[in-house]
Amino acid sequence: KLHPIVLCGGSGSRLWPLSRDEHPKQLLPLLGERSLLQETVLRLEGLADVAAPVVVSNAQYRFLIAEQMREIGKMPCPLLLEPAGRNTAPALTLAALRVLATDPEALLLAMPADHAMTDAAGFRAAVGAALELATAGRLVTFGVVPDAPETGYGYIRRSAGGEVAEFVEKPDLARAEAFLASGDYLWNSGLFLMRATRWIEELRRYRPDILQVCEAAITSGRQDYDFFHVGACFQDCPGESIDYAVMEHTGAASVVPLAAGWSDVGAWDALWDIGAKDEHGNMVRGDVVTQGSRDNLIVADNRLVAVLGVHDLVVVETKDAVLVAHRARAQEVKELVARLKAMA
Ligand code: GDD
Ligand code: MG
Repeated sequence: KLHPIVLCGGSGSRLWPLSRDEHPKQLLPLLGERSLLQETVLRLEGLADVAAPVVVSNAQYRFLIAEQMREIGKMPCPLLLEPAGRNTAPALTLAALRVLATDPEALLLAMPADHAMTDAAGFRAAVGAALELATAGRLVTFGVVPDAPETGYGYIRRSAGGEVAEFVEKPDLARAEAFLASGDYLWNSGLFLMRATRWIEELRRYRPDILQVCEAAITSGRQDYDFFHVGACFQDCPGESIDYAVMEHTGAASVVPLAAGWSDVGAWDALWDIGAKDEHGNMVRGDVVTQGSRDNLIVADNRLVAVLGVHDLVVVETKDAVLVAHRARAQEVKELVARLKAMA
């Protein structure tokens, strides 16, 4: 059986001031009525033989997540809660151990909760195409054709047979430019499909320290109504991503192309790229009036926002903070937030 594992514990600081520690990106309705988490779960509908999704997240988001899952008719579902985030390798491991307790044949579909895809059918087709490989013991990644030298992604060089010949997580700009120019690399979309037993084997090989803490954290965990709280010893787990912990090292990875209008909605400019715009290229959310303005992203969370005679801006209004930025510099919001945190 296919067990979707929804990785839902990040914060998404480049979407400040809408995303906050208490309201992370994946729980925001950035593109439509539904949050990215809800869209992620609903995207699975239509896949055959799928178990209830396991949502792995930080304990502080539990009520918001349960509420959002209930809204889309998916409660009860297994909710695995971490006392503190330790990145994605431990999160996936916790889920693998829980699922293996009842289904030794389980296939895990690791899904970031904070991505957008405009073509859900394309997503399901890619998963379908990967099933046989994963069942045979491969760790399947899903590759996207790159169009920029992004340094925040993993890069995959694909062999003729569809195996991963090389996996490079977050290269520096010079390497990313070389990868893009070569035409031989795909972006790692962050989705993975593999047998739970294979994940555990590969982790035992490359990061037994992570596996050991996760096993102890599951054994010492407790069920509290809808929530499974993993044990406090999880705080001692080394923080590491799936990519650095295993994917860069394993010899058993394959890659399947993903053509689904994928975006990781990393920053405001990416949201503007994929969002619906009016005839002047303005993407607006909330109570917004524009005049003589084009190609802006304007979000009004609480108050009326009016813009006049401006272009290529990001304006995001919330109760306690307002961001005005040039769209081309949206990536730098991350540094801005770091400065704000240092000042506080
Ligand atoms: N439960 C839990 N706990 N979830 C987490 C944690 C954690 O500690 N940390 C991150 N997540 C969730 C995030 O909410 C997100 O949905 C997903 O796991 C991926 O984590 P990111 O932190 O966003 O990873 P990334 O964007 O730096 O890199 C990954 O995704 C890229 C594509 O967007 C890698 O897989 C790259 O190789 C890939 O290109
Ligand atoms: Mg990400």
